[in-house]
Amino acid sequence: MKAKKVLVILGSPREKGNSAILAEQISNGAKSGSAKRETIYLHGKNIAPCKACMSCQKKGSKGCSIKDDMQAIYPKLIESDAWVIASPVYWFTISAQTKIFLDRCFALPAYNKDPFRGKRIAVAMAYGDTDPFTSGCINALRTFQDAFRYTESLLVGMVYGSAMAAGEIRSNEKVMQDAFDLGNKLIAE
Ligand SMILES: Cc1cc2nc3c(=O)[nH]c(=O)nc-3n(C[C@H](O)[C@H](O)[C@H](O)COP(=O)(O)O)c2cc1C
Repeated sequence: MKAKKVLVILGSPREKGNSAILAEQISNGAKSGSAKRETIYLHGKNIAPCKACMSCQKKGSKGCSIKDDMQAIYPKLIESDAWVIASPVYWFTISAQTKIFLDRCFALPAYNKDPFRGKRIAVAMAYGDTDPFTSGCINALRTFQDAFRYTESLLVGMVYGSAMAAGEIRSNEKVMQDAFDLGNKLIAE
């Protein structure tokens, strides 16, 4: 059987921060089921916001008109069997890096027919406040639910926990185990 490809997309500026740790743990769970992993760290990449030119939506479009680092990411998104999307909660929702990335995914159907349909997706989030409601994490989780329902993708699961300083999430044994288990589920048929 061919090894499943898991693409990890890090949406925090902290490359080794809490959401990245949860994402790594998800991919560890997937790797234990022998999946291949590749990680994309969005922060510092040259990825401009969508400018709504709509050229990606035109019939026969060759893709996004913005020629930046997103161009190398589109084929990776298409080729992978599963995505792990990691974001911190910033101002009661996803980080700006994650949002810009998601907006630019609007162009994905210009590169491949039905690029989202059936794609298996896991989400990892961290927040500084005490719970998913007061932190605003719930807004981000709802965004992912709506987005991936709309795209007919398979949102396999979401893990999230409270942590402020980078690395703090490791002491939350339950969420670390949940993340690992989600990785297993992510690549299961
Ligand atoms: C600009 C900024 C905005 C933030 N906004 C929130 C917020 O609205 N709610 C919250 O609970 N935590 C907020 N935090 C705290 C982070 O979510 C928290 O430190 C989290 O662990 C960061 O995850 P990371 O290590 O993956 O970057 C904010 C942090 C920063 C730097």
